[in-house]
Amino acid sequence: MPKHILLGVSGGIAAYKSCELVRLLKKQGHEVSVAMSRAAAEFVSPLTFQALSGNPVLSETHDGAAADGMAHIRLTRAADAFLIAPATANTLAKIANGIADNLLTNLAAARKCPLAVAPAMNVEMWRNPANQRNIAQLVSDGLTVFPPDAGDLACGETGEGRMAEPAALADLLADLWTPKTLRGKKVLVTAGATFEAIDPVRGITNLSSGQMGAELARACRAAGAQVTLIHGQMQAALPAGLHETVSAVSAQAMYEAVMARAADSDIFVAVAAVADYKVKNAAAHKLKKDGSGRPPVIELEENPDILAAAAALPHPPFCVGFAAESRNILEYARAKRAKKNIPLIVANDVAVAMGKAGNQITLIDAARETVLPHCGKAEAAAAIVGRIAEMTVEAV
Ligand code: CTP
Repeated sequence: MPKHILLGVSGGIAAYKSCELVRLLKKQGHEVSVAMSRAAAEFVSPLTFQALSGNPVLSETHDGAAADGMAHIRLTRAADAFLIAPATANTLAKIANGIADNLLTNLAAARKCPLAVAPAMNVEMWRNPANQRNIAQLVSDGLTVFPPDAGDLACGETGEGRMAEPAALADLLADLWTPKTLRGKKVLVTAGATFEAIDPVRGITNLSSGQMGAELARACRAAGAQVTLIHGQMQAALPAGLHETVSAVSAQAMYEAVMARAADSDIFVAVAAVADYKVKNAAAHKLKKDGSGRPPVIELEENPDILAAAAALPHPPFCVGFAAESRNILEYARAKRAKKNIPLIVANDVAVAMGKAGNQITLIDAARETVLPHCGKAEAAAAIVGRIAEMTVEAV
């Protein structure tokens, strides 16, 4: 779902981070156009953004591309979203008050697409009542504010004011154009591979990268849900902007983390690849070769079934399972949906999905089976969220 993103860069030292942001957005497949304020061009050359975005840069110093002087209107018409990052206190104040006296504020005023801002400033400037009033105004005007992080600031002081990291901004941007089909819903997602200890350094795990679970959490967040992610081992990056992320590496720990929250959730999506068995006789100290040539005996016992337990609650959340199979995929998936007593299961082939970038899924509920074409995991997650939204509108 590539989009056209207009990135406005105003004059702050964080402008250098926006170079990385352009790179990340391009990597996600988006088209990026950059517009720079006069001050921003003092921090980073327009040429840098031109090279990274592959598009001409609109700046107050070089507006050669626009023979009719209407480039600022055309740019916003072509864009699906406009993000100003970094956004200085000055730029925010102007936009909050409808002032349009330079390129970025003109773009903001003339746009039709959604606008998000990533403020970057000194901690005292951020806390300043006038700035906070402007932020509140921007939010009430329907803008999205990606709040600054706390940490060391370029001025040498410490506190809130650092622009949100480029990776977080690139992650959160999809929220701008995603329909809010799960607005206000509390969603619990499990993701990644569980790890069952054999001794303090060894264990039993699996090949799940956590990517599908991370994309599901992201897609639920983008659809307006309050998302809690409970995860085992993850190779995939944790999504930004979640309500809560909990590391629960063993199946037992994941079970406890889920059961503490499931009754208070509207939707539970179990994407984690959970070990069916744990080690009954896990050793407190590292197992040593004893020289006898006999390998140690590892005894296994069954883990709780997290999904089935959540589905068996007196008032269960809407439960969605994954059936990762290596053969008889649909048949096993149907049986799993029935056995775990859940309304929706997502069937996929482990050979296609596990540790891979894409996925090919089939959505199975009581009434229908929908085979989706092979696609990226973000796209698969969006399709699953679409189906959940459809089903929960009727069910909740
Ligand atoms: N699951 C779970 N807790 C477990 C095992 C599985 O919550 N202890 C969830 C997974 O997150 C997934 C679904 O149940 O959503 C299917 O898991 P899977 O391991 O494929 O199914 P099993 O019931 O373990 O059946 P089998 O091992 O026979 O494939």
